[in-house]
Amino acid sequence: MNSSKNVFFTTPIYYVNAKPHLGHAYTTITVDVAARYSRMSGKETYFLTGTDEHGDKIVEAAEKQNKSPQVYTEEISAQFRDLWPKLNISNNDFIRTTNPDHIKVVEDLLTRIHDSGDIYFSEYEGIYCFGCERFYQERELIDGKCPDHGTEPKKIREANYFFAMSKYQDWLIDHIKQNPDFIRPERYRNEILSFLKEPLEDLCISRPKSRLTWGITLPFDSNYVTYVWFDALTNYISALGFPDGELFSKFWSGTQHFVAKDIIKPHGIYWPTMLKSAGIEIYKNLNVHGFWNVSGSKMSKSIGNVTDPVAVTAAYGVDPFRYFLMREMTFGLDSNFTEEAIIQRINSDLANDLGNAFSRVLAMNHKYFNGEIPDTDRDIEKEKELSLKDSAIDTIGAFVGAMDQNEFHKGLIAVWDFISIINKYIDTSVPWVVAKDKTRRKELATIIYNLVESLRVIAGLIYPVMPETSIKMFRVLGIQFDEDREFKTIEEILPWYQSCAGTRVEKTPTLFPRIDPEKIVQEIREIKSGQEDERYQDSGKESSLPLKPEITIEDFAKIDLRTGTIISAEKIKKANKLLRLKVDLGEQEPRQIIAGIAKNYGPEDVIGKQVVVVANLKPAKLMGEISQGMLLAASSDSHLLLAGFESPVNPGSQVK
Ligand code: ME8
Repeated sequence: MNSSKNVFFTTPIYYVNAKPHLGHAYTTITVDVAARYSRMSGKETYFLTGTDEHGDKIVEAAEKQNKSPQVYTEEISAQFRDLWPKLNISNNDFIRTTNPDHIKVVEDLLTRIHDSGDIYFSEYEGIYCFGCERFYQERELIDGKCPDHGTEPKKIREANYFFAMSKYQDWLIDHIKQNPDFIRPERYRNEILSFLKEPLEDLCISRPKSRLTWGITLPFDSNYVTYVWFDALTNYISALGFPDGELFSKFWSGTQHFVAKDIIKPHGIYWPTMLKSAGIEIYKNLNVHGFWNVSGSKMSKSIGNVTDPVAVTAAYGVDPFRYFLMREMTFGLDSNFTEEAIIQRINSDLANDLGNAFSRVLAMNHKYFNGEIPDTDRDIEKEKELSLKDSAIDTIGAFVGAMDQNEFHKGLIAVWDFISIINKYIDTSVPWVVAKDKTRRKELATIIYNLVESLRVIAGLIYPVMPETSIKMFRVLGIQFDEDREFKTIEEILPWYQSCAGTRVEKTPTLFPRIDPEKIVQEIREIKSGQEDERYQDSGKESSLPLKPEITIEDFAKIDLRTGTIISAEKIKKANKLLRLKVDLGEQEPRQIIAGIAKNYGPEDVIGKQVVVVANLKPAKLMGEISQGMLLAASSDSHLLLAGFESPVNPGSQVK
């Protein structure tokens, strides 16, 4: 499907208003898998990621930490940049929208669009969501609220610059229809087409400096900065050195953008029309994936149930994490992240299936042939139907077919189907029986040879998803790489009979240690019960507790305290200290908070009570229940007293 010889892969450039989470890791790993696969397909591949650093959101996040936007963006951008090597991301470049070279290209693009007569100045009154940093149309709102933030957009009136996007509506519809896979999978193409059934409004592309200075100044009016999306989208061409850069002429026409469904409008509508107006070729494909939920809840920075990719990788390893994300999610649809699911995948698919097949075959090779690959006998292969060649070729075909369509989970399923064929082959060819009969030595050699060849194919195919494991398997099998790379192309994997008789194969290392779910669950429980005790322990002599070490105002600013109203409360069976609360923090949905206050408060005592919530505390599981925050309480004379207010407050207000 990606027929161009040169391919350019991009992730969104992530906002630096919070540190990287599971969602960012997923997109970046997905693009890494696609880029590694593209290199395996023999294509020249360029892979870009980076950070989006201008705009209101960033200023607000910096202010919260009492930092200048420059210092703050530098810090968070570095967290993204430093994360990617830990996840084995093979990006060629990392762009920041504060780079001077990027800024020049934004000015150039604005000038081109201005010169083409597609930018005009006008007074505008509209409804504006500060979270999204954009004007909304009434029909886009849900119950009068922003669909992403659940807040009511504010009416604002301003003189601004507009991009005449509406002019390109018919052209865009036509382009999407002429190029059926321009936006894929199809559900997102349909979403954009159905949005385009209504008249498109022009796009406000400026912000007066009286309101926002942290942005790129418009080249034709220094009283304004440009809209953050106009700035951000331009990264895709500035990183390639638009207009004259070698990279741009080499890679731009093979562009594959990858984003999640939250940002298809800027990518599917603003960006192609901007390119069209500036006379630049339209990118090739927009690939859109779904959302990860965590333990069944929508992941959100404000709810605080975002999963830290560094912690997950530390616990389970980078290849298992990559495998889990790619196997579990059908590209385009939503998926759910739970610890149970990742443990299950590691134990069954990686340790049991792949790991066992690998060590089983190598152990037999050691036992029967002293670790030297034996030679196959093609007559015996035929006569006894012992060849795995056809299955391997079918597997490669199915893998390529799936990966070309971004169906990464299907690519993996094809490989795992082959693993189960191998296991069945071992069971039916019974090498341990054949080994007992000295006259069947050639048959034994043929069986082992076919198994080793199959492992070679598997090592090659898992490379995009699990590069470390692939390289390890190849090394064990005694296979060399070309000097400048550590993978085999599909062409190189295909021919059967590549394993050389006589090659020494290493003793089997364990590819994936099994995770003992009992032990992990027990460990998690111990950590959590420790947290519970610490959180609500009543020492009976609080006033004599020594003070904790001094902290700075920055340390304190990290804690996001909010007002909340308890809207429901119930006891939890078998946990006499805990109440399950639903607390309204002014968000789209109330949060579930598990509070250790049941000895002092009954459910009826707390319903309607206004409390102080630590709103950005990492979610924890208490007695199997997810808790999305913690209430503040004092413990006095062996009694717990919830912190509250003298008179009613709006839920979600900040407590400082
Ligand atoms: O939107 N599941 O940046 P951003 C899967 N700066 N992927 C998720 C996710 C989830 N729950 N949450 C986030 C911006 N993502 C702009 C982009 S591009 C020119 C400018 C991933 O930090 C997914 O890729 O909010 C999503 O599109 C992106 O993070 C949004 O990142």
